Formats: sequence, C-alpha cells, structure tokens
Amino acid sequence: MINERTPADAQAVAQACGCSPTGIRILLEYLSSIGVLERYSDKYALTPTAATFLVPKKQSYVGDLVLSETAPETVEGYLGAVRSGQPYYPAVPWAQDAWLESYRSSRPAKSLEMWRLAGFEPGRTSRLRVVDLACGCAIKSLTLAHADPMVQVDCVDSSDVLEVARDLAMRLGVLSQAKFLPGDLHSINLGKGRYDAALLGQITFYLTPEQNLALFMRMHESLVPSGVVVIDVPMISDTSGERESLASVFTWATSGGKAHSFAEYSHWLQVAGFKAARQLGLTWLSAEKP
Ligand SMILES: C[S@@+](CC[C@H](N)C(=O)[O-])C[C@H]1O[C@@H](n2cnc3c(N)ncnc32)[C@H](O)[C@@H]1O
Repeated sequence: MINERTPADAQAVAQACGCSPTGIRILLEYLSSIGVLERYSDKYALTPTAATFLVPKKQSYVGDLVLSETAPETVEGYLGAVRSGQPYYPAVPWAQDAWLESYRSSRPAKSLEMWRLAGFEPGRTSRLRVVDLACGCAIKSLTLAHADPMVQVDCVDSSDVLEVARDLAMRLGVLSQAKFLPGDLHSINLGKGRYDAALLGQITFYLTPEQNLALFMRMHESLVPSGVVVIDVPMISDTSGERESLASVFTWATSGGKAHSFAEYSHWLQVAGFKAARQLGLTWLSAEKP
C-alpha cells in the first residue's frame, strides 16, 4: 500500500486495494501526470501536497470535500433539485474547506486589499473590533489582525470550523487578538454597538432574501455608529435576477440561496438602516451605519 511518502509499485497498490494491476497502473500514471503522485522508476509516492490533504484521518484531510463536489450522490442531488424545484441540503464538510482556504497563499493580499477599499488601513492608533460571521478559517479578518495589532477579531462559525481558525491564528501569531465563538449566524447574540466592522464572507449567497435582511438588521444593531459591514460575495450584474450565475445554480440547489445583484444588497442594507452601500469590487461591497 502507498504509505504516505513511501514509494510503492502498481502491483503492491493493486494488491492493497483489491484492484486490477493494469487498471491501477494506468490510474497511477494519470495521477503522476497531474501532480498528485511522484514517480520513482516503477514506483509511486504521494506528493507532499497529496500527503497533506488526501490522507484520511489527518487533520488536514479534504477528501470528503472533494467527494462532496464530485460524488454521484451530489450529481443526483442537483438533478433532484432541478426536477423538484426544491433545494436539497447536503451536509458540507466545511472544516475541510476551511483547512484548504487557510493555506491559500493568494488570500492575505486580496483580503488586505478588500479591507483597504472598505476604509480600513493597517496602522491604526485606536482599537478596531471586528466580527467575522461564518468565518471559515477566518483568513480574511485574521490577515487584518496580523497587519495591525490594534485589530481584535471575534470569529463565529461551527466549533469544528473554529478549530481551523484557531490553528490559523496560531500560525499567524495573532491568537491573543482573536476570540472563537461557536454559534449559528442566524441566532448568535452579537450584542448592541459592540463592533466597528462586521465581515460576511462568501455566505450571503447561501441565504434567502428574508434571511439576508434579518441578518443585516442584526449586524446593524451590533455595530457602533459609523461601523461598517463588509460583504464578500459573487454578485450578478442583472438587477432583474433573470440572468442567473453559476454560483446561483450551486447555492440554490444546496441551500435555497442564490447570487444577487449589488442593487439588491444595497436595498436590503438600506432597509436594515445602513447608508447607501458602496461597491468596492466585483465581489466586494460595504455599507456604513449612520
Ligand atoms: C463558503 S464558507 C466561507 C468562509 C469565509 N467566511 C470566507 O469568506 O472564506 C461558508 C462558511 O459558513 C459557515 N456557515 C454556514 N452556515 C452557517 C451558520 N448558519 N452559522 C454559522 N456559520 C455558518 C460554514 O461552516 C463555512 O465555514
């Protein structure tokens, strides 16, 4: 059996998994060609990346996430939703998604750009209290904390996902600037006037319009005057909602949410009491509490 990084030949792998040596050799060759395996003469071993993310029982294993996007049941789920007009609600291994995101090297620079456009430059002289709701690994807010010791972040997500955020905070050396609050974003008590900024990253397109409006109202209450909500989400350009995006297909089928236009977000935010929203980029917007 291929044991982590120990090379094994096709015969040994086939024997370990009860498959045909011919089939396994072709599969191993293919996996080598796409960089999942390294080939040493007639033997194969996992690359360091595959050994990190594709070995079950490792903390960093993301195989369930890959299967949740590619398994036959997933395809059946989408087809069922299209046939019935009713979303299905699969259990998503979000902690595995968070592990992957926590190692994505492009995230820190992009996140700082988002915060800058929203008006938050590192190098502050006063404390900035941020709540990161449905934070995943919280890389977007922890990056800001890393760039600025005045930033304190409350990370909200399920407890298994928060373990990843805590691990990332440790890796970034910002553990003392972060708190981890397990909870449901629809019901967790966010207090009144507690935060200067609130981040909703890649979550609002999983929510229905009613859920978004209710969430924005609670965010409004949790912010200080002049506090800012920042939203990172795919948006459609068509305000009529007739031209749906690919993101809509996936999120509607699995959660009932869908991609919305900037105009729709703007409207909900204004109803929730925010000033006119600003579009900061293709997937970023912000709005200030008066
Ligand atoms: C696509 S990830 C986004 C992670 C991160 N905010 C980002 O921008 O990359 C969605 C996250 O929302 C979390 N989530 C989904 N529903 C939630 C809920 N009802 N309450 C709290 N967290 C939730 C999931 O656990 C997952 O970590």
